[in-house]
Amino acid sequence: MFEALVAALLFSVLNYGINRATASGDGDFFHNCTPSRCSEEGTIEIRFPFRLATSPQSCGAPGLELACSREADTMLLHPILGLCKVTAIDYIFGGLNVIPLEESWTRCPLQKISTTNLSTSVYIPDSYGGETANLVRCSRELIPTEKAGTIPGMGDNIVGPISCLSNTSQFIYLMDGSEPMYILPLDCTVVSNGISTPWDYDIKTAVLFAERARRVIAFGETTLTWSVPNITDICLDCERNGHPCGFSSQRRQAFCKRQGIVSSNS
Ligand SMILES: *[C@@H]1O[C@H](CO)[C@@H](O)[C@H](O)[C@H]1NC(C)=O
Ligand SMILES: *[C@@H]1O[C@H](CO)[C@@H](O)[C@H](O)[C@H]1NC(C)=O
Ligand SMILES: *[C@@H]1O[C@H](CO)[C@@H](O)[C@H](O)[C@H]1NC(C)=O
Repeated sequence: MFEALVAALLFSVLNYGINRATASGDGDFFHNCTPSRCSEEGTIEIRFPFRLATSPQSCGAPGLELACSREADTMLLHPILGLCKVTAIDYIFGGLNVIPLEESWTRCPLQKISTTNLSTSVYIPDSYGGETANLVRCSRELIPTEKAGTIPGMGDNIVGPISCLSNTSQFIYLMDGSEPMYILPLDCTVVSNGISTPWDYDIKTAVLFAERARRVIAFGETTLTWSVPNITDICLDCERNGHPCGFSSQRRQAFCKRQGIVSSNS
């Protein structure tokens, strides 16, 4: 189903050493490497340090290649998660949200996510955002009064039991990482911590833990941060100051687009 897409992405990754780009001046970069989207109404803009696998290699940083599916979704071939749908990219914080699509990940996403090291040289599961969660095992089911009432402040901060991980003798929940364990009954223990729930990049609409938890439990949606030495840190700085980021093939260095450098040849 995805073979062609996977092949295209693999080809582009393997081929990275061969740099066919001919961009010369800094202005040329923004002329040759225009931001793109997989669909006209798509909300995900693909721009440096990301690039589409079909664009010149010098339009992106190594390892940050994306592709468009036939359904016009933005796709990432992650070395560990396999083929993923990209649901958000944030160029200021350096994060990206993905949903793994391969069957081994979709059957019980949290089981895989909680037991797999997802780190690669470029993508690292987000553990800083303050939006991580703990997988908790209890020997009894938490009853709704415990969830909402008798445990102070618990409210929406624990979700479960997660059906694909629970059975009659153990009940598995996902709990907001910022909650202290002492609010739980004594028969509960943390089985896995630092699970990344999807960031919400739009500060105006802070998403409740329960909603982020639902997305990681049902779809395996998770946040990865991306980093390529000597490139992405410069780009995050550019974006924070409202400047697009580009790459000079001559100087082999990322740079911020300044006012006065026009997109056409300067
Ligand atoms: C996870 O994998 C990365 C990259 O392979 C490695 O550097 C790191 O030490 C691993 N972390 C753990 C906890 O095993
Ligand atoms: C419940 O699941 C755990 C972990 O997979 C397993 O060790 C245990 O035997 C199971 N219990 C029952 C009653 O199925
Ligand atoms: C990053 O830049 C520093 C200083 O310019 C250089 O010494 C280092 O080799 C560079 N690292 C990579 C991975 O290009």
